[in-house]
Amino acid sequence: MTQTTIRLTVNGGIHDVAAAPETPLLYVLRNDLELNGPKYGCGLGECGTCTVLIDGLAARSCVIPIGGCVGRDIVTLEGLGTRDEPDPVQQAFIDEQAAQCGYCLNGMIMTTKALLAINPQPTEQEAMATLRYNLCRCCTHVEILRAVMRASGQLAEAGD
Ligand code: FES
Repeated sequence: MTQTTIRLTVNGGIHDVAAAPETPLLYVLRNDLELNGPKYGCGLGECGTCTVLIDGLAARSCVIPIGGCVGRDIVTLEGLGTRDEPDPVQQAFIDEQAAQCGYCLNGMIMTTKALLAINPQPTEQEAMATLRYNLCRCCTHVEILRAVMRASGQLAEAGD
């Protein structure tokens, strides 16, 4: 693969990266930009742990070449909030303790963020359908669903 300089917009910052256009976005985020929120799981676009937002939509960065990301607005977990001021979705996952090993959390949070942007008050069925292809092997699904409903302000209606 031939390297070139590719300009990416990540978390509001401009980054010039020397890499082949075919390089998966996930590799650049983690290895070049040291953004380790997105995780490497399957590398095949199937588990969701590498999810980022691209132009506001949830996208699996392990199968997206950086050459297709020029001029797009990329947001990683690090771009949502800080330790002192977490994003409301991050806070909801903390409040619900919606993790065991935590490896899937990046994907769950980023996918929830994208969902709530287009559907601020999803039903439980809609939330489950959206997160269906984000895999969690610890079986924390009940807490994750509660976190989504908490983030959408519907926890009482969800049976709390
Ligand atoms: Fe990207 Fe599994 S690592 S979907």
